[in-house]
Amino acid sequence: MKDSYSEITDYIRDMANRTNQNHSITPEMYRKHNVNRGLRDMNGNGVVTGLTEISTILSKEKGPDETLIPCHGRLYYRGINIKDLVSGFQKDHRFGFEETVYLLLFSELPNQKDLSRFTEELANYRSLPPSFVRDMILKAPGKDMMNILSRCVLALYAYDENPDDISVENVLRQSMQMIATFPMLAVYAYLSYRHYHQGKSLFIHNPDPALSTAENFLSMLREDGKYTPLEAKILDLALVLHAEHGGGNNSTFTTHVVTSSGTDTYSAIAAALGSLKGPRHGGANVKVVQMFEDMKQTVDTSDQDAVRRYLQLLLDKEAFDRKGLIYGMGHAVYSKSDPRADILKVCAKELSEEKGFQEEFALYETVARLAPEIIGEKRKIYKGVSPNVDFFSGLIYKMLELPYELYTPIFAVSRVAGWSAHRIEEIQNAEKILRPAYIGVKPERPYVPLNER
Ligand code: MLT
Repeated sequence: MKDSYSEITDYIRDMANRTNQNHSITPEMYRKHNVNRGLRDMNGNGVVTGLTEISTILSKEKGPDETLIPCHGRLYYRGINIKDLVSGFQKDHRFGFEETVYLLLFSELPNQKDLSRFTEELANYRSLPPSFVRDMILKAPGKDMMNILSRCVLALYAYDENPDDISVENVLRQSMQMIATFPMLAVYAYLSYRHYHQGKSLFIHNPDPALSTAENFLSMLREDGKYTPLEAKILDLALVLHAEHGGGNNSTFTTHVVTSSGTDTYSAIAAALGSLKGPRHGGANVKVVQMFEDMKQTVDTSDQDAVRRYLQLLLDKEAFDRKGLIYGMGHAVYSKSDPRADILKVCAKELSEEKGFQEEFALYETVARLAPEIIGEKRKIYKGVSPNVDFFSGLIYKMLELPYELYTPIFAVSRVAGWSAHRIEEIQNAEKILRPAYIGVKPERPYVPLNER
C-alpha cells in the first residue's frame, strides 16, 4: 500500500522521465505537416470550425485596401452589442442577468411580461433534491469549488427521471434547472469548505424567489444575508459579461464536442466545467489577483521601473508561478481591446473609489499600460495585447469581499447560460459527431518479443 493517495513514487518519477524522453514531437513538425497546432493558424487565429447565431466577436475590420486590420473589440449577444445591452438595463436600474439568459436561450429580448414569467420559472427551478446538499456537498467537502460543482452536476443525473432525452424541450428544462441552481451549488460548496477546512461556522440560507441571481448569490453567501445595491449591481454586471463568448472558447467548444456525441446534459456541462476550471481559461481570474498579491509582496509597486522588472521576470519564468505568463493580458481573439474588460474597468474604478482601493486600481492601470510593451519586447506577437475580461474581474470580486475560491465558480454560474444555448444549437445543427484528425508521426517499427527486449 502507498503512504498516501497522492504519493509520487520513485517508479512513477522514473517512468515520467522516460515518457518525457520518448516524446519527440517538435514545433517544426507541426509546420512540416501543415497542422494547426492547438487549432490555431500561424498567426494565432482560431481555425474556424462552426457557425453560431448566439454571439459574434469582432476584433478586426476592413481597412481602405480591403485588408483586415485590428480594431477595438466588439461583442454581440444574439446580434445586440454588449455595451448597448448593459447600458439598456443599467439605465432602467434593473438587473440584467436574467434578461441576458433569456436573450441567449431564445434569441429575443424579452418584454416585461416575458421577463417576469421567465424570472418566475427560474425561481421555481431554484431548488435541489431533498438531502442533496447534505449528501453531495456537506458529506464530502472538497477544497476546489469547481470540482464540487462538476461532481454535483454529475450527481444530479441520478435525480432526473429523464436524463438522457436530448430533445430540445428536455434539454431546455435541464438547462434552466442548472442556470437556476448553479449559484446555490457554488455558494454551498464554499460554505462547506469554509466550515470543514477553515473551521468557520456553518450556515445554509435558502434562496429567495423574489431576488435576482446576483442578489441571491450574495445573500446566500453572507451570514447576515446582507449586501448593498451597488454590490448586487456589480455582480449582476459581471454575470452578464461572462455569460457567453462564442463557440470557440475552450469550455463552450468542449460543450459542442461532448454534445455532438449525443450524450446527456449533465455529462456535457460537467465536461465544460472541467475546462473552465483551468488557469488558461476561467481559472485565470484567480491567478490575476494572486499575481498582483505576489507583486505587492516582492517589489515596491510605487516604483514603475520595479513593476516593469517584475513583469519582465514573469515572462522569463522567474517570478510568481514561473509559467511565463502575465495573467489577464492578451486574448485569442481580441487585440486592441476586450469590450468586457473596458466595461469592467469603468466599474472597477467606481468601486475602488467607494471602497478605498484607489492605489490598487492605479497599480492595475500601470500594469495594463506596461504589460503590452513588455510582451512586445519579449515575445513574437502577431497582434496587439490588451487586458482581457479576467484582468479586472478578480479585482472587482476582491473589492466585493468575495473569496478567491468563488472567482471561477462565478464565471461558471454565468457561463452555464452560454453553454446551454450552444448545447441546444449543437443539437439543432447536429449532423455528425465532431471528429477532427491527428497525423500519426511515429515511424513503423517491429514488435520485439518480450524475451528479446
Ligand atoms: C471567454 O470568455 O471564454 C474567454 O475570454 C476565453 C475565450 O474567449 O477564448
